[in-house]
Amino acid sequence: MFTELIFTLAVLQAWALAESCPSLTASYPAPSVANGYEARLVAQGLTKPRGLVFDNKGNMLVVERGVGVSAFSISGSSSCVTLGEKKSVVGDSTLNHGIEVTDDGKTLYASSVDTVFKYEYDSTKMASKNPKAIITGMKSDDLLTRTLLLSRKSKNKLVVSRGGDDNIDLSTVDVNNGLSQLRIFDPTKESQNYTAGTTLGWGLRNAVGVAENPKDGGVWSAENNADNIKRDGFNIHENNPAEELNYHGKLDDSNNPLLGKNYGYPLCYGAWNVSEIPSAGTLQTGQQFAIAEANATTQDEFCKDDRQGPRLVFQPHTSPLDLKFDGKGENLYVTLHGSWNRDDPVGYSVSVIKFGADGQPTESSTSRNALTPIVSNSNTTGCPGNCFRPAGLAWDRNGRLYMTSDSTGEIYVIVKAGGKALDDSRPAVSVAASSRDMVGALVVSAVACVFAWLL
Ligand SMILES: *[C@@H]1O[C@H](CO)[C@@H](O)[C@H](O)[C@H]1NC(C)=O
Ligand SMILES: *[C@@H]1O[C@H](CO)[C@@H](O)[C@H](O)[C@H]1NC(C)=O
Ligand SMILES: *[C@@H]1O[C@H](CO)[C@@H](O)[C@H](O)[C@H]1NC(C)=O
Ligand SMILES: *[C@@H]1O[C@H](CO)[C@@H](O)[C@H](O)[C@H]1NC(C)=O
Repeated sequence: MFTELIFTLAVLQAWALAESCPSLTASYPAPSVANGYEARLVAQGLTKPRGLVFDNKGNMLVVERGVGVSAFSISGSSSCVTLGEKKSVVGDSTLNHGIEVTDDGKTLYASSVDTVFKYEYDSTKMASKNPKAIITGMKSDDLLTRTLLLSRKSKNKLVVSRGGDDNIDLSTVDVNNGLSQLRIFDPTKESQNYTAGTTLGWGLRNAVGVAENPKDGGVWSAENNADNIKRDGFNIHENNPAEELNYHGKLDDSNNPLLGKNYGYPLCYGAWNVSEIPSAGTLQTGQQFAIAEANATTQDEFCKDDRQGPRLVFQPHTSPLDLKFDGKGENLYVTLHGSWNRDDPVGYSVSVIKFGADGQPTESSTSRNALTPIVSNSNTTGCPGNCFRPAGLAWDRNGRLYMTSDSTGEIYVIVKAGGKALDDSRPAVSVAASSRDMVGALVVSAVACVFAWLL
């Protein structure tokens, strides 16, 4: 009985520890979390954390803007995550957003305004060496992130996103300028000029979020649209243009009908609130309209017929920064960094978009309800000053989703209520997301054991 009692006490203690997870406290009002989810603040004190990935050993790698790439080991179950001591993997103050790591954990990629770098990486030591510039010639003064997407469906394809060099950059009408586009590169090659890549899509003002659907390999991008826009002399920027989710087809499809398509910028913009667009005619939410100073209306036809429209639209100025699919391609999670160019702040949340079995969103392109918020700022009146600002997203191998907040230097973990994996298709390893349930089960069986002995 004695050993069983000791065992019971030990288990109960573990249970109590799991229940009393030490939590960090934010300086702003606690986030509001949708029913069925749990979010916990797990790191503070980082320098503008942006892109985020996990390596093959389960370590977290994060770009701290102006610092480089930092790594943390991760421990703990359910949402009770503890980060190990910070380790510098790359010290390079030019790195500002993009990051990728190969599935074998041997190669790391990171981007600055001008360059994509490749490093030899050792995930057992969380160390890198031998940086090589693989893509160059991207320098500009505005829209500075260069998001990286390493395809998991096609071998040796790295998609690099580059924005324009101004809010409304008219030079982007020339594809050879290499601005406002997505290009595909072979990451095993070195010193490639950005304009030497294959154009996946262009006319994309600033497609910061880029993701590949693991179900079918479809590539999606989230476009951050223009500020302060006018049409026919009227200022319509409050509720237009929409942010856009654009579809680019599959990288392994040699007949991809969307390869090299133009998505409209800087001539055409997605409509959100057509009742505030002068001479809107038959224009609907989700269709593109022209903003040329004269005769904008007649050019709406051009936007409709000659430019690729968005697959979904989001509320203007929400600023979608990162996109991550779950393993089955059923949910696409998006960070909304939040607005500055409208009276009431919007965005400032992590939201989810439902995808169907056909690899497409379940909502129509004219919908204004494509996003469902999961973790939001509870008082957006205080934004951006007194709010977290979601930037990067990444999955750990236990199906937990992590979110960086650059403005506050923080990282959150998001799971399902009860500490369960948000993505249950990801293989759980030893520190399973459900280990708190396991502790619970052990308590029950240990108590049953003692009870049986007493009988
Ligand atoms: C890259 O290509 C562009 C246009 O093709 C050219 O203007 C630029 O000088 C090139 N940059 C480098 C670093 O070679
Ligand atoms: C659209 O604009 C009208 C007119 O300004 C306004 O009343 C309405 O609230 C707006 N709706 C949205 C969803 O922006
Ligand atoms: C506006 O469109 C009309 C009809 O297509 C055309 O006659 C006119 O010249 C255009 N005006 C300008 C300023 O482009
Ligand atoms: C929300 O934030 C604003 C600005 O920081 C503040 O004035 C207001 O009192 C807050 N509202 C609530 C309900 O806390």
